[in-house]
Amino acid sequence: MRHTGRVAVAIVLGAGVLALAGCGGDDFADADLDAGKQTFAAACSSCHTLNDAGTPPSQIGPNLDDSFRASREVGMSDEQFAGVVQRWIRIAQKPMPRDLVVGEDARNVSAYIASVAGMGGESTVRPANPTPEIPRESRQDQND
Ligand code: HEC
Repeated sequence: MRHTGRVAVAIVLGAGVLALAGCGGDDFADADLDAGKQTFAAACSSCHTLNDAGTPPSQIGPNLDDSFRASREVGMSDEQFAGVVQRWIRIAQKPMPRDLVVGEDARNVSAYIASVAGMGGESTVRPANPTPEIPRESRQDQND
């Protein structure tokens, strides 16, 4: 049974990647990055920090450099990033409103974010505090 479960998950993930790749023929190659940068400043920067945009930091939503840094490091392509951002704009979760921007604006802003996110700025992700050591005398070992 365990085995079947894993295969099912793999198929779902694979379908997701295919769906993204085939995102309605969206092509980001000719997107207008300057227009996308302006859209970011107008529609997204009130909640998101993105180093390249030069807008004042905001912590209402995730820092988009941090969101994409790890995937950038493992080699995700700009095209894939743009697809993820564009899809997120459609299916956003509260408090981020859905379809904040649509059509060309959505395409441009997604391509712009994809072209810069996770490349500049310092990570704001901090390591968790170390787990405090439990003093030996207060451990409840059965062997004690
Ligand atoms: C009102 C504040 C607000 C605005 C405006 C906003 N967002 Fe968000 N956004 C959020 C919040 C909060 C989340 C996290 C939601 C969650 O994880 O449930 C989020 C998540 C995201 C994510 C996923 C990041 C991750 O780490 O999972 C992306 C991508 C994103 N927003 C892009 C955009 C873009 C592009 C715009 C402009 C078109 C925008 N957002 C405008 C608040 C906002």
